[in-house]
Amino acid sequence: MAKQTVQYQCLECASILNKWSGQCPDCKGWNCIEEIKPVSTASRNRGNWVEHKTTTEIVTLDRIPDADTARFSSRIDELDRVLGGGMVHGSVVLLGGDPGIGKSTILLQCMTQVSQQQNTLYVTGEESLQQVSLRARRLELPRDNLNLLSSTCVEEIIAHAFQLKPTVMVIDSIQTIYTDSLQSAPGSVSQIRESSALLVRLAKQHNIAIFLVGHVTKEGQLAGPRVLEHMVDTVLYFEGDSSTRYRVIRAVKNRFGAVNEIGIFAMTDQGLKTVTNPSAIFLANHDKPVSGSIIMVSREGSRPILVEIQALVTESHLGNPRRISVGLESNRLAMLLAVLQRHGGIPLYDQDVFINAVGGVRISETGADLAVILAILSSYRDKAVSNNLLVFGEVGLSGEIRPVPNGEERLKEASKHGFESAIIPAANKPRKNNYNGMKLIAVNHLADTLNVL
Ligand code: TYD
Ligand code: MG
Repeated sequence: MAKQTVQYQCLECASILNKWSGQCPDCKGWNCIEEIKPVSTASRNRGNWVEHKTTTEIVTLDRIPDADTARFSSRIDELDRVLGGGMVHGSVVLLGGDPGIGKSTILLQCMTQVSQQQNTLYVTGEESLQQVSLRARRLELPRDNLNLLSSTCVEEIIAHAFQLKPTVMVIDSIQTIYTDSLQSAPGSVSQIRESSALLVRLAKQHNIAIFLVGHVTKEGQLAGPRVLEHMVDTVLYFEGDSSTRYRVIRAVKNRFGAVNEIGIFAMTDQGLKTVTNPSAIFLANHDKPVSGSIIMVSREGSRPILVEIQALVTESHLGNPRRISVGLESNRLAMLLAVLQRHGGIPLYDQDVFINAVGGVRISETGADLAVILAILSSYRDKAVSNNLLVFGEVGLSGEIRPVPNGEERLKEASKHGFESAIIPAANKPRKNNYNGMKLIAVNHLADTLNVL
């Protein structure tokens, strides 16, 4: 009988199959069967470990010499910030985001600048060489030093990299790259996994920093169920939608720096420009107070940012009233509505509730809870809250208001922008008020907050 060369594996339950199918016979999941390379029995049964010649050695922690991570600047301040202070030699960075959000643009800007000092290679699998060159010309970027390669075969890319020996390399995008050793189509999980593994090895062995561009699926996940996130050193995501002006890059994993650090850019006709003072760009700037709008100060990454939270509560004609949230977590919204009903006595079961963080920013911290509740209340009662009022605080299931980290820093930012009063968790109230006489209203429970209003 002919020896079987191809096998298939379910990505959900890891069972091995001899033929492809749309549904896994074991876990009944759909579209989760992928081609794999079978492990040869020879390598599996090698067995005799005593005679195995080791080439590596075991050491204790104190015998490892101290070495600072060698970094170089990406020549874009905000990108350096999310990377944790610059690119690390030999590291692999995954840059994910929706199509058209600016991944190719920012990497082209970065690489043309870096290429003035370092040996660089930009591999484009998606756009033609002309398209890349045209964009560089339109953005008035230096075009003389950047090495370009149009290729989608990973073996060929690695062969070029061996000859050129670049310090930085960009693969745009990993979904277009394939390896000769597999038969599945480019973009499939096994192709992405194999090609990335080869590129990661190249980066580590030859000390080449590599940016991998990755597309995000409609569900907001990186295509190729997160396989890439485990392999790379740093994962950066573009946030915000491509119709707004501002773009946020967030570090969701970083072996060389802090996570949740964000870099803020504005898309202009000159490409992506860094926003040097981002603290007030996520405000809608109303002339007079409007109902359903509350300003909070969020702390994303290592700096405080003012964000306007908007809510709209309208009577629902549906059996299941709608709860829609943009930029904030929707489970959290459901929880806050339940707290509002149980501990604030405000029933919203017959109302549609929409909430939005202005400017396309995504708030991932719980410090927004109090602002969301007050915005909902303000819209429900159709009463505007002063736009000189600032709010932050976490709300617990029993209606208690919990403190958030870095309270003083948030208050300092608010006073810098001329806010006159702030509703804050009691445990966040500083002993001395040195915030330009800003009136601080400390609350312990949701009921106190409703009384204050
Ligand atoms: P691009 O960087 O090609 O996105 P990705 O690689 O993430 O798919 O897309 C950039 C988008 O931004 C595109 O829709 C056009 C727009 N854009 C500008 O508004 N100004 C510019 O200077 C450039 C280069 C692009
Ligand atoms: Mg692109």
